[in-house]
Amino acid sequence: MRKTALSENLSLSVIAQGFWRLTGWEFSTEELVSFMNGCIDRGVTTFDTAEVYGGTHCERLMGEAFAKDPSIRGKTELVTKTGISRAMINGEPFGYYDTTYDRIIKSCKESLQRLQTDYIDLYLIHREDPLLDPWETGRALLDLKKEGLVREIGVSNFDPFKFKALNKAVDGQLVTNQIEWNPLCYEHFKSGMIDFLSGNRIHPMIWSPLAGGRIFQETDDTVCTAVRAKIEEIAGRHGVSPATIIYAWILYHPVGAIALAGSSKLERLDLAIQALDVQLEHPEWFEIYAAGGQQIR
Ligand SMILES: NC(=O)c1ccc[n+]([C@@H]2O[C@H](COP(=O)([O-])OP(=O)(O)OC[C@H]3O[C@@H](n4cnc5c(N)ncnc54)[C@H](OP(=O)(O)O)[C@@H]3O)[C@@H](O)[C@H]2O)c1
Repeated sequence: MRKTALSENLSLSVIAQGFWRLTGWEFSTEELVSFMNGCIDRGVTTFDTAEVYGGTHCERLMGEAFAKDPSIRGKTELVTKTGISRAMINGEPFGYYDTTYDRIIKSCKESLQRLQTDYIDLYLIHREDPLLDPWETGRALLDLKKEGLVREIGVSNFDPFKFKALNKAVDGQLVTNQIEWNPLCYEHFKSGMIDFLSGNRIHPMIWSPLAGGRIFQETDDTVCTAVRAKIEEIAGRHGVSPATIIYAWILYHPVGAIALAGSSKLERLDLAIQALDVQLEHPEWFEIYAAGGQQIR
């Protein structure tokens, strides 16, 4: 498995495994240990989670697996995220953002406890907080680094303006932006984020590369239908599965993305890994881009 260096201290596997949907997989701890070892055996050593996934339960389940098989943690790069909180308002859960100093420090320590580990390899601010004070949030992230609780820091779902503001406050130490990109989603091309990252040699992590499986579902959405047909056609040319072509399309981009696979099935993780052996033709990249409704002028 190819690795991508985000910094001198941290490299991630180009295909990483996401655990957002873990609580729905209904794995026993033994099954989760076996799944994690299956990822590691394939060279997929980067594991992604977040405080908020499964209402903190996802981190807890991962921690139980790390405790059950202590060899796993040392073989993996663990990514988690902070900044989303929940309150009960009128008896209903209400989500909001909190990237204040005290909350980040507390949140990180709680994540470490749930994950049953002493350090997080990469710690991300999960979403753009309209109340973000880059200097305060930056100070929290730098203090966590100084204490050795996190090795590297980054963000997720940030636009170039917020990225620059926070990156200035941490002396340029943000090493990634974890963003959504797939053949149906071009938000970060439109915002200039992809160009910003390419220009600064910062590698993004890409979430929902298969649009959460939506690309493979029957739908009335004509763009989705056109994208699926085009991907199937290109998959036929290369003799691989459509999912493999989507990963190859993401990895083809010069920004040097790390793709986050989200399936519960190792055989589907293999489809992602096979993308490393696919050489897309340059026009094929644009065939998918155009099928996704993007204009080529
Ligand atoms: N930073 C953020 O804000 C953010 C947001 C969302 C996600 N993420 C991260 O990104 C990771 C990946 O996101 P994702 O789970 O949405 O990824 P995804 O790979 O786009 O979607 C995974 C879903 O698609 C299904 N699927 C996969 N291959 C398929 C195929 N060939 N045919 C039909 N269905 C298929 C999977 O079902 P099966 O399990 O049945 O295979 C699963 O439900 C997450 O786990 C999380 O770590 C981050």
